[in-house]
Amino acid sequence: MKSRIKSIETKYMQQRRDFFNGLKNMDRRSFLKVSAAAMGAAATSGLLAPNSFCPVSVAQAAGSSDSNVSFRFAYISDSHLYEKKVNDRFVRGLLRAVEDINNLDPQPDFVFYGGDLAQLGQAKELDIGAQILKNVKAPLKMMVGEHDWYFDLGQKWQEMFGQPTYSWNHKGIHFVTLNSVVERDFWTKHGMTPMQRMMTVAGLDNGMQSSFTVGAQQRQWLKEDLAGYSNDAPIIVFSHSPLYKLYKKWNFWTDDAEDVQAILNRFERVVVIHGHTHQLLTNRIGNIHFHGMLSTAWPWPYAPEGMPELTIEMNRPDPFNPNDGCGDGEVHVHTDGLVDKIYNFWNRKPIMVARDYTASWGKQSIPLKPNLASY
Ligand SMILES: [Fe+2]
Ligand SMILES: [Fe+2]
Repeated sequence: MKSRIKSIETKYMQQRRDFFNGLKNMDRRSFLKVSAAAMGAAATSGLLAPNSFCPVSVAQAAGSSDSNVSFRFAYISDSHLYEKKVNDRFVRGLLRAVEDINNLDPQPDFVFYGGDLAQLGQAKELDIGAQILKNVKAPLKMMVGEHDWYFDLGQKWQEMFGQPTYSWNHKGIHFVTLNSVVERDFWTKHGMTPMQRMMTVAGLDNGMQSSFTVGAQQRQWLKEDLAGYSNDAPIIVFSHSPLYKLYKKWNFWTDDAEDVQAILNRFERVVVIHGHTHQLLTNRIGNIHFHGMLSTAWPWPYAPEGMPELTIEMNRPDPFNPNDGCGDGEVHVHTDGLVDKIYNFWNRKPIMVARDYTASWGKQSIPLKPNLASY
């Protein structure tokens, strides 16, 4: 006799199938339906904080000085999407970030995506990412990460999103996006397949791959791109890996960082915003103020040695809550080009690293500590 009650597994698989079918050809209405269903499922399984999907409130953050804020943009980063049959949790993470940002009021001037949209550079991973990101209401700017690039050396990503290196001006600020994950060819001599190359780059630095660089060609481009700007021009640069050397064994590192810094350092104020490190990270070297972005997929632990002094470390995430330590955020750009960097944690109070904090070398507007205990 056939049971009329579906097993919980069958029900789960059916919901999952509906969820992914809903992702195809999404217009705004079906996006809302699908993401509401996804969040409903996450809420009933206890994965969501009750404040999810509410507009971010940073009123309680230290050092807010709204009167000098010229405009805002939002960021999403490091979603690491797998093919849908492998993992749907990260897909739900990206949906949640898009929904967060679409709920911001007022809307940001644009949304910046910080790289590592895909996990293994697969066309299907990038496709599902693009499907979701097309629902972002504000204009979207894209940056490439190593997980997007090393399966086909950027072919699919560039077909979908264009050149990885570009610049533009917005309300008096000069913005630059770099591809900071350029590696020397280590694969040919080892006769690697595209997937072997991808898996090597996706792993820790085992001495097989070469380090991330911006590379001579892009450094030359950057010099020329900035040539027309005087030293007091406000400059904001996006890079996937941090443009300084943090911890080589984990590839928290850009090998020609000093050469790039030398190009930027003539400016009185430069902000570099990077992905890749999946954590609250703040640094300043000379005139360059660095801010990391949160991931929508998972938080990395902090590098075990030599943390930048200005970094207020977020607590170690709750291992039983896969969303803890993940999130998205906003950047408030001041008239002088320096920024308040807002970390919108999904499971904690938001944290703002204010302009005045990095401007005063950490003496003023010290960010509030994260509000959860460490695990
Ligand atoms: Fe990443
Ligand atoms: Fe990365």
